[in-house]
Amino acid sequence: MARSYHITTFGCQMNKADSERMAGILETMGFENEDNAEVADLILYNTCTIRDNAEQKVYSYLGKQAIRKKTNPNLTLIVAGCVAQQEGEALLRRVPELDLVMGPQYANQLEDLLEQVFNGAQVVATEPVHIMEDITKPRRDSAVTAWVNVIYGCNERCTYCVVPGVRGLEQSRTPEAIKAEMEDLAKQGYKEITLLGQNIDAYGRDLPGSKPDGQHLHTLTDLLYFVHDIEGIDRIRFATSHPRYFTERLIKACAELPKVCEHFHIPFQSGDNDLLKAMSRGYTQEKYRRIIDTVRQYMPDAAISADAIVGFPGETEEQFQKTMTLIEDLGFDMVNTAAYSPRPGTPAALWDNQLSEEVKVDRLQRINRLVSQTAQLRSDRYAGRIEEVLVEEQNPKNPTQVMGRTRANRLTFFQGDITQLKGKTIPVKITEVRAFSLTGEQVVEQRVAAIV
Ligand code: SAH
Ligand code: SF4
Ligand code: F3S
Repeated sequence: MARSYHITTFGCQMNKADSERMAGILETMGFENEDNAEVADLILYNTCTIRDNAEQKVYSYLGKQAIRKKTNPNLTLIVAGCVAQQEGEALLRRVPELDLVMGPQYANQLEDLLEQVFNGAQVVATEPVHIMEDITKPRRDSAVTAWVNVIYGCNERCTYCVVPGVRGLEQSRTPEAIKAEMEDLAKQGYKEITLLGQNIDAYGRDLPGSKPDGQHLHTLTDLLYFVHDIEGIDRIRFATSHPRYFTERLIKACAELPKVCEHFHIPFQSGDNDLLKAMSRGYTQEKYRRIIDTVRQYMPDAAISADAIVGFPGETEEQFQKTMTLIEDLGFDMVNTAAYSPRPGTPAALWDNQLSEEVKVDRLQRINRLVSQTAQLRSDRYAGRIEEVLVEEQNPKNPTQVMGRTRANRLTFFQGDITQLKGKTIPVKITEVRAFSLTGEQVVEQRVAAIV
């Protein structure tokens, strides 16, 4: 009988993409997916260590599986991803039942590593390596939208952040490899691609020189032009953008290229210049505002989302208020917020001006209230409008409805049959607006023709 596997994924889109690749490898090895982690023969936790609570979650999951292993010695237990990279061998000491600890750079070497495990070894794979192009097909969660990695790692040194330590140095894939993967996805029927990188604007800077035919394919902007015309792909998105490198040339390209969606995720982290400096972000809040102004000059209706940290070491109430003002002034469609969490191996964790949990939690609650209000205001503008929705799935809470996203990335529900609508882009008249989602009804063809 085939052995079964179960993967639990924590953290960001990079981890989700890695999990899909590892699932693909396991399936080519003959493993079968098992939804119930309590009975699977192989358990893989793809972990995140961006904040302490993300890391602690993994230990509680692992504890349960370690107990199960006592009665089922054939259980294979794997920790992959960023906690694995950060903790390495220390993880084995903490959880001796583990068979394999593997950093994110090893995601596509899972088969080799497992062979060592099945030969009786306990394996730790965390040495920095060059990530090889992958020939295994990922097992993707969606049949409509897909991630495509364009750059791994991060060379920035934001003082709060573990990512450079756990994901290693920047490594761009070649434009040709990216395009080939996208063409393949188009053939399989995928409609939307999100190009991925922790600092996607750095794309290409590690690739050797220009091409002999004079073509420069070595910036994100060039890459967007290079991959844009693939037949079958209707939408292109990218994330995450760093304000330091978000150029007008890129903004212009996004406005010009019809498949690139009008949604940009550009984390600002703080609205205060001294804090931005302490974070080593390399821009000021004025520069950030100029970027958003420029985006809106070219694409007045563009959706903007961001990340922000509250309670960074030394943050005063006044500095916190500057972050609040930035959110009010710019009107974000969505902001992912977090209370600062001191992380091992990062400079800011060692500073002696840490704030109390109480202050951090209070600021987090206040910023979250503002973020919902702002998002609601941004959603309001959709009321009565007709939006293009790419249908992804049935609404799990209401099977008579399907769900998908607008170009601006708002989750949208409407009445419809998933078997007929999946993967189609449908004009939907928005009838209900909530802070982070919309409801509407499908517009009949004739009316669209009249409007267009
Ligand atoms: N590369 C992206 C973000 C990667 S991490 C960027 O440069 O913006 C995702 C988000 O987690 C960050 O934007 C930040 O808001 C948050 N984050 C990272 N480290 C954190 C920490 N130590 N404490 C709290 N939030 C943190
Ligand atoms: Fe972390 Fe900064 Fe790199 Fe983003 S750019 S992943 S916040 S170090
Ligand atoms: Fe977490 Fe690693 Fe992503 S720390 S946010 S899973 S890069």
